[in-house]
Amino acid sequence: MSERPITLTDTGASVPLANGLAYFNYCWLRDACPSCIDGQTRERIFDVASLPGLPRARAARIEGEALVIDWQAETQVSRIPLDLLETFATRGRAEDPADLPRRLWYADQAPRFTRVPQAAVLNDPHARARLTRALIEDGIAIVTDMAGDGDSLPRLVQAIGPITPSAEGLFFDVRVELAPTNLAYTAGPLEMHTDLPGEEAAPGVQFLHCLENSVEGGLSLFLDGAAVAEALHEEDPDAFRLLADNKIPFFYRHDNWDYRAYQRVIETDPEGRVTGVTISQHLQDTMDLPQVLLDSYYPAIIRFLKMLHEDRFLVRFRSEAGNCVIFDNHRIVHGREGYVADSGKRHLRGCYTDRGALRSTYRVLAKQGFDGACEEISQMIPA
Ligand SMILES: [Fe+2]
Repeated sequence: MSERPITLTDTGASVPLANGLAYFNYCWLRDACPSCIDGQTRERIFDVASLPGLPRARAARIEGEALVIDWQAETQVSRIPLDLLETFATRGRAEDPADLPRRLWYADQAPRFTRVPQAAVLNDPHARARLTRALIEDGIAIVTDMAGDGDSLPRLVQAIGPITPSAEGLFFDVRVELAPTNLAYTAGPLEMHTDLPGEEAAPGVQFLHCLENSVEGGLSLFLDGAAVAEALHEEDPDAFRLLADNKIPFFYRHDNWDYRAYQRVIETDPEGRVTGVTISQHLQDTMDLPQVLLDSYYPAIIRFLKMLHEDRFLVRFRSEAGNCVIFDNHRIVHGREGYVADSGKRHLRGCYTDRGALRSTYRVLAKQGFDGACEEISQMIPA
């Protein structure tokens, strides 16, 4: 550790750390005191607003692996671990095992979708970590050898997170229906989309369990929407900005429901990196951006929609009975080719959990020592 002293100012302390002096605000330091967290509930039991004024250090020193602070106007002495200070000085935020970079994928790279048998997901934390990690990194994975009983899908979902309902209830069945409430429930082609953008918080992670598929046609289509959005950023930055900066209306409307929500087609984080996409022509409401803005917005979204059909991005494969495809509904765009309705049977059962639950499950596994990293070559999906 540096021999440089700790400097105390009116508002905070500059602390010598491995990479030099790092400044920390006193309120932040007081909140970072381990005594603020209850050992049993693990929740915060200190309220910085309960102090008579803003906290201020009387003295500070480094003892062992902690920064020790004596506070003015308080008897509390805080011992803040130096590794916490190092983390915030270098990363700017807490360590997060689920903060894994997205691995963009393209059709011509023969995407290596992770495949894990259902029994392994349910019984083996290594396999569960591998699956949840793949869903964070690739946004898609396949669970094979699904049991055929009626509880098979809920057992799988609950290994990852609670089932989140939609207007359809906890589960939906994708098969031909006589009076369909959704184009998915016909034999027609289903354009590339993300599910239910008309909901305020569209479903996070989608499960599609193939129960039977003996029809002619009906290939499943998937692409990495984040990869398409990044390509648009490269090839037409103005179009990218229009789709990332403006919200457009979506709906889901039938006799007993009338959902409406505004979404950005391309979602970015504060650093401008793509975090997701939302697209669905069959659930897109009448545009209500200013008409003059539509002169440039429509060409931008049309360009993006055309890119969703390009062979460089699209993966086509046949859903096999006994498999369950799981994908991030805010990133992976999916669709289906049309099929001959009377050529056989096609039945997929679906449901959702949310992305927060997925990451929570992965974090818990990672803390237990199961990080899901896998060097072995994953099986390829035939294109
Ligand atoms: Fe869908």
